[in-house]
Amino acid sequence: MDKMVIKGGRRLAGRVHVAGSKNAALPMQAASILASVGNIHLTNVPSLLDIKTMNQLLQFLNLTVTFDEEKHELLLDAQQRVASEAPFEYVDEMRASLLVMGPLLARTGHAKVALPGGCAIGSRPIDLHIKGLIQLGATVQQQDGYIEARAERLVGKMIYLDFPSVGATESLMMTATLAQGITTIENAAREPEIVALANLLNKMGARVHGAGTEVIRIQGVNFLHGCDYELMPDRIEAGTFMIAAAVTNGDVIVENAIAAHNASLIAKLEEMGVTVIEQDDGIRVVGTAVLLPTTVKTMPYPGFPTDLQPQMSVLQLLANGTSTLDEQIFEKRFMHLEELRRMNAKFQISGPVAVLSGPTKFSEAEVTASDLRAGAALVLAGLAADGITQVRNVSEIDRGYDQFQEKLHALGAKIDRIDIADKIKLSPNHRTGETN
Ligand code: EPZ
Repeated sequence: MDKMVIKGGRRLAGRVHVAGSKNAALPMQAASILASVGNIHLTNVPSLLDIKTMNQLLQFLNLTVTFDEEKHELLLDAQQRVASEAPFEYVDEMRASLLVMGPLLARTGHAKVALPGGCAIGSRPIDLHIKGLIQLGATVQQQDGYIEARAERLVGKMIYLDFPSVGATESLMMTATLAQGITTIENAAREPEIVALANLLNKMGARVHGAGTEVIRIQGVNFLHGCDYELMPDRIEAGTFMIAAAVTNGDVIVENAIAAHNASLIAKLEEMGVTVIEQDDGIRVVGTAVLLPTTVKTMPYPGFPTDLQPQMSVLQLLANGTSTLDEQIFEKRFMHLEELRRMNAKFQISGPVAVLSGPTKFSEAEVTASDLRAGAALVLAGLAADGITQVRNVSEIDRGYDQFQEKLHALGAKIDRIDIADKIKLSPNHRTGETN
């Protein structure tokens, strides 16, 4: 099992470039199924495990996929007959495989997708996806661990989402592009990734309005075609590096980050005494020796993102006083805290709320990443800890972070990756004989 080995106590300084957004890319890859004419050409695509898993699924569904990882360009061709069954091994590997269900139904009239299981952060039901497809005219049945949807034709409807689910909003928006008439999605998710997907769909010939607000209106069309699209920077990777700068009392410029996508995080960092400066070339984050405690509550966008909650908990634990962390999105997203307890963290959990006691002197330990954001949080704690922290199961981090170790090393972190053979795989610019 791969692990990262971090020698803590070094301030991060310098510049880091943010990769393209994973959570914008995945629904766009699924949307390519809808293009019966031409190719979808995505640029600024991050080289991540999840992106490659989705590419493998699309190839299984008979799309032609060309991914140039060096150039970060992805060409998707769905002009041939598209298969309509997504087997378990892909969905089990990555829940976001579920995003192909709506496009397959809209393109072929049939979709059979393995039911995604739960995961480390929660049960992750898909009832809102299914309810919306039925409202659009599909018949849906569930058996032998699969969801199967059929529709002779899809007819636009008003769909109300009980919760502004990102995935359900994306699935139903994609499906509705080829339905007859007008579909309205009420209480829709408002994340920047929803806006990006709507922009792609409109470039493909769809007619989507209102993305980014809680009401999205889709006028169905007869077919969709290919187009070019450049992915926006990953706001969660950007936020992770902003928090890393604060955790090490460093001074880091996160290039190409979009401040508006991280307004809630910036507000919290400033509340804690961190200096955040929006510059032409990115966002500069300057730490402070004495962090102030603060309250964080995760909410749907534009609220504080659940995907930055584990990373933020590390900064709150370093603060001088008691902070609270209220996780409103997922029911099991405190697994990282149990690992941090092994690094001397002190906290009490009651339901969705964790009360965090700081300041913490993180001590060295061996810890395990339960999911990609928890893994990133444990690395951040290692950056602040005394001594050597070893984070296991770092393949989870590879799912969502492109060159995480290399980027941290370039910012001055002492971080190495030990592969299965236990050989040290040093960062490319690792200097030997380094004393510290
Ligand atoms: C997306 O997951 C992201 N994944 C997640 O990022 C992110 O944490 C999440 O949105 C919330 O922002 C991708 O975009 C690929 P949801 P998704 O549907 O779509 C409940 C990461 O680290 N719900 O908005 O699965 C659900 O249980 C990942 O990059 C239902 O009840 O999230 C949860 O409590 C982790 N019924 C809440 O909504 C449904 O049918 C949010 O889920 C669907 C969701």
